[in-house]
Parts: sequence; C-alpha cells; structure tokens
Amino acid sequence: MIKLLTIIGARPQIIKAAAISRAIQAHFSDKIEEHILHTGQHYDQNMSAVFFDELGIPEPHYNLHVGSGTHATQTARITEGVEQVLLTAREQGTPFDGVIVYGDTNSTLAASIAAAKIHVPVFHIEAGLRSFNMSMPEEVNRIVCDQLSSILFTPTETGLQNLQAEGFAEDGIKQRVRFANGQGPRVILSGDGMYDNSLYFSKIADDKCNIIERLGLTSRGFVLATIHRPANTDNPANLQSIFTALLDIADRDQIDIVLPLHPRTRKMLDVQLTPELMTRIETNNHMRIIEPASFFEIIRLEKNARIVMTDSGGVQKEAFFFQTPCVILRPETEWIEIVEAGAGIITDADYARIMDAYDVLAGKEVIFPPLFGDGHASEKILNEIVKYIAD
Ligand code: UD1
Repeated sequence: MIKLLTIIGARPQIIKAAAISRAIQAHFSDKIEEHILHTGQHYDQNMSAVFFDELGIPEPHYNLHVGSGTHATQTARITEGVEQVLLTAREQGTPFDGVIVYGDTNSTLAASIAAAKIHVPVFHIEAGLRSFNMSMPEEVNRIVCDQLSSILFTPTETGLQNLQAEGFAEDGIKQRVRFANGQGPRVILSGDGMYDNSLYFSKIADDKCNIIERLGLTSRGFVLATIHRPANTDNPANLQSIFTALLDIADRDQIDIVLPLHPRTRKMLDVQLTPELMTRIETNNHMRIIEPASFFEIIRLEKNARIVMTDSGGVQKEAFFFQTPCVILRPETEWIEIVEAGAGIITDADYARIMDAYDVLAGKEVIFPPLFGDGHASEKILNEIVKYIAD
C-alpha cells in the first residue's frame, strides 16, 4: 500500500482535494491509503466544515488548528506541525510515501518545505501557474513549492510552458536536480481536477441546493461577485472603485449583485470604504451581500449568473466551466487561456475598465473551448504517483 498525506488548509484546497479523494475511493483503494491533514488555516464553519460535508471528503486524520497569523507565523506553525506528523509516522515504522499539496497557499508552501527537508516526495497539484507578480503571497508560495516538488502536475498548457521556461522538462528531469531517492522532478500535464469536480457535482448541486430559488434569482438574471485578494481588500482605492462599479451596474441595469463575503473582506469594509459608500451598499436593494457560499451554492450561482466578477482564481475557472463570462478584478491572471478565449477580461480594480468589460461581456456571444482537460485529471494524477513510487 502507498501511504499518502494530503494537505489542505484553505477553502479552495478542500474543494481540490475532493476530486482526488473520490478517485482514490473509486479506483485506487487497493493501492493507495490516503491520510488527510487539515492545517486549520481556514477554521470558520462556512470556510471549511461545510465543504467536507457537501463534497464527501473523509474526516481529516490530523488538524493543526493553526488559525490566522502573519505569513511567517502561519507558515512556521504549519511547517512544524507537518514535520511532526511525518516524523512520527516514520518512527512508528509506517512512513508516508509522499505528500500531496494543492495550489498556492501558506499551507502549500509550509507543507512542501517540511516534507522536502526530510526527503518525503512532494506531489504538487496545480503546479506551474504564474502571475509573475511577486507582490502576491501566492506567487511566492507556488514558486518555492514547485522547486521542491518531485512531481509537478500542471493543469494547463500555459503552466507547462511556464515550467519549461524555468528549466523543467515535461517527460523528465530538470537538469542535474536529484532528490534523495535519486529521481529528478517530473512534470505532468494532467488537466484540472476542479473541472472533474464541476462535472461531477453540477447535477448534484442542482438537486440538493436551492440558493437560486431562496434568493429569488432568475437564471442569467444576476451578477455574482467575489472579492478577497489582499491587493483589493487592503487597498482602499481598489475596494472603493470595485464597490462603486458594482453599485453603478446594479442601479443602471436594475440587476441583482450577489456577493458572498469572504471573512477578510467583511473585516475590511468598514475600514476601507467611505461612509457614503457604506450607506449606498446598505440601502441598495440590488446589493445582496450573503455569507461565504458553500460549494453547492457557489457552483449554482456561477452556473446561473449572467456575469461573474471576481478576483479569485478558482471562481474564474468555474465560471468558465459553466459557460459564464467573467470580469477579472486583478491586474493579471494565472488562467490566461480564459482571457485569450474571450471569455474573461482583466480589469484590475479600475472603475472604467470594469464597466467596459461588463458591457463587452454582457453584449456578445462568448465561446468556451475545452481548455482544462477531459474531466479525468484525478485518475491521471494518481496513476502517475503510483508509477513514481514503483520506479
Ligand atoms: C487564503 C490563501 C489564498 C486563497 C484563499 C481562499 C494564502 C496566503 N492565501 O487567503 O491563496 O485564495 O485563502 O479563501 O494562503 N479568516 C476568518 N475565518 C476563516 C479563515 C480566515 O475569519 O475561516 C480571516 C483571518 O482572520 C484573516 C483573513 O480571513 O484575517 C485571511 O485569512 P488567511 O488564511 O490569511 O488568507 P485568505 O485571505 O483566506
């Protein structure tokens, strides 16, 4: 049996891990034993537990309960906790054969450092993505994690090209780099497990979740907005210009704006927005600010929205899976193929660009080519892990 430790911590990782857990249970239960470690980076019920319930992920074996803190504090606590779990298993004679990490959060960074230093192979899912913007904590996290990974599973052609530009080769080995087991890093174009999930859960969400009806929304008759990136929430000018644009669209088009609010953003509203803007938000009947959405809720909202406006990477992609055009409230995106396909427009937090992009996307026929694999990324990833450990 191959023993793997899956690291999750922040909301999107719980979602990504679901696809892999499901594939292990369905196709690899005789070969792979998965243990889940929750770092506790996200701890609110609606940021964590609700996803386990809906997505059918097994209870974590370990929870580090690290909570919030500065980047260094959070990263240090997680590094220490993950190392402890790996070393204890080794001492008990049942060592882990590898650690699976997802995406680009502090949990990803910390776990990859802990594992690589004690020679446990790191398997990075969502490798190779780059924004080239080093002021994002996520960019720092993903670059370091990729350098430490034994297998880099990249979801897109763009991810593969980014890694090749950094000296990685698809079928092989970054020049001269060797891990303790003698192997070099491997790069695999795997497709995207989030696409696997969206295909799998779309119908289930329609059956089990009534958020559209509960909020009195109509299909393609509202805008879905999500905002949580520090570059927006921690910068008053950016947050003000995004909210002004949302309010102006709501007023002009008499369209509801549904905004499930991340805890980071909720904390920053009063601090960053002018009293006038706060009053406009509170008194505008079309501004529908709700609690962070569950997975079923968010995919139903993404699927039924007329336009999605977001600074999240995952929401951009899911909007695309559900053929909903997307205004990207960031200066760049890791999912550049969405922009190239004409299904998304980058606006940063610039009022005029947001308004223009909204009008362009609302006014044209948008095409959504298949860019994120065939819906079987998770099986491909697990096959490669099994092969690696056998080699
Ligand atoms: C993290 C990830 C980001 C990911 C996002 C998804 C990093 C550096 N960032 O950002 O890549 O896109 O998760 O949501 O790892 N908070 C709560 N309750 C919670 C979780 C957080 O109140 O359950 C508050 C914290 O107190 C903190 C803020 O939200 O003030 C930010 O949390 P943090 O984990 O630092 O980063 P995110 O912004 O969630």
